[in-house]
Amino acid sequence: MNNNEKKHQRRPRYKGTHPKSFDAKYKELQPDKYADTIEKVIQKGNTPAGMHIPICVNEIIDFLQPKPGQIGLDATLGYGGHTLEILKKIAPSGHLYALDQDPIEIKRTKERLEKLGYNENILSIKNINFSDIDYLVLDSGPFDFILADLGVSSMQIDNPQRGFSFKTEGPLDLRMNPNKGVSAAIRLRELSKDEIQGMLIENSDEPYADKIAQAIISEYRKGNMIETTTKLYHTIQKALSFLSKDIKDDEIKKSAQRTFQALRIDVNHEFESLYDFLEKLPKVLKSQGKVAILSFHSGEDRLVKKSFQLNARQGIYKEISEGVIRPSMEEQSSNSRSRSAKLRWAIKS
Ligand SMILES: C[S@@+](CC[C@H](N)C(=O)[O-])C[C@H]1O[C@@H](n2cnc3c(N)ncnc32)[C@H](O)[C@@H]1O
Repeated sequence: MNNNEKKHQRRPRYKGTHPKSFDAKYKELQPDKYADTIEKVIQKGNTPAGMHIPICVNEIIDFLQPKPGQIGLDATLGYGGHTLEILKKIAPSGHLYALDQDPIEIKRTKERLEKLGYNENILSIKNINFSDIDYLVLDSGPFDFILADLGVSSMQIDNPQRGFSFKTEGPLDLRMNPNKGVSAAIRLRELSKDEIQGMLIENSDEPYADKIAQAIISEYRKGNMIETTTKLYHTIQKALSFLSKDIKDDEIKKSAQRTFQALRIDVNHEFESLYDFLEKLPKVLKSQGKVAILSFHSGEDRLVKKSFQLNARQGIYKEISEGVIRPSMEEQSSNSRSRSAKLRWAIKS
């Protein structure tokens, strides 16, 4: 073999018939090459690694009714599932602005959409926080419609290096933009027991907040740092070891989910960003402009509901959705991640 030729490297082997870890799912991570595998994973009701299945697409398109020539904003680009459906509707003369604060996934999505023929003529992708829409509108002009699909994408949750999931070992980071702020590991170290407890209650209504906060502080006192996802998970396990055997596993899982969610909300300043976004929305929408927001937990939905109701009472919105719209039963069973989704909409006067 020529010395300059690259030696063939074996793919790392995985145990069992199906790859379980994110990196071993090499077929799912190359959807162009392995379309059959992607189809099979989706058929089973799962999300392929490195992908995100958009939620309530029909309900959102039915409400927004994007048309050729309109100017729209997708405030949360993610994998670009909603973006793509909107682009099909506004082509060829419309323009869509799409934002994401995640500098890692935004590049991949931009490339994917460019390959499908959507370039700057119709789509402007910007790596900014949606709390800055008042700056964006200076360039774009006011919008005919806006969509926000809150929270994190499946790509972010599934990538162990991002630290969003307690199910896989990784650095306890949880930032959507790893270039900003501090990781969850550092943030946790800065907080007192009362502050951790308060964060767990405020952000996730965690019923065992006191016990979990105490267990975290005890680890620090013993000189044990909580730098990884699994270390935090084991600390939660310890905190809830007093529970009876029949409920323990289930309660630990739910508490771990809520604790990771609370930390994620905290390090990404999610409530502050959403609050700013909601407050600025009426100023960046055209008259008769429409906004649709998908939320995934009660804290988010409460903020959206209050803002829409307040603006409706003041006559700023002429109409708002009555209650929430939920994904169909069919969607909930085919995409488990859609189950907690709640859609609300408003139309500006
Ligand atoms: C649920 S995903 C969106 C999925 C997308 N609708 C799709 O079809 O693929 C949410 C995305 O919004 C981004 N995001 C969350 N909060 C944001 C914020 N305040 N500003 C900008 N992007 C944000 C996340 O990084 C993530 O990529």
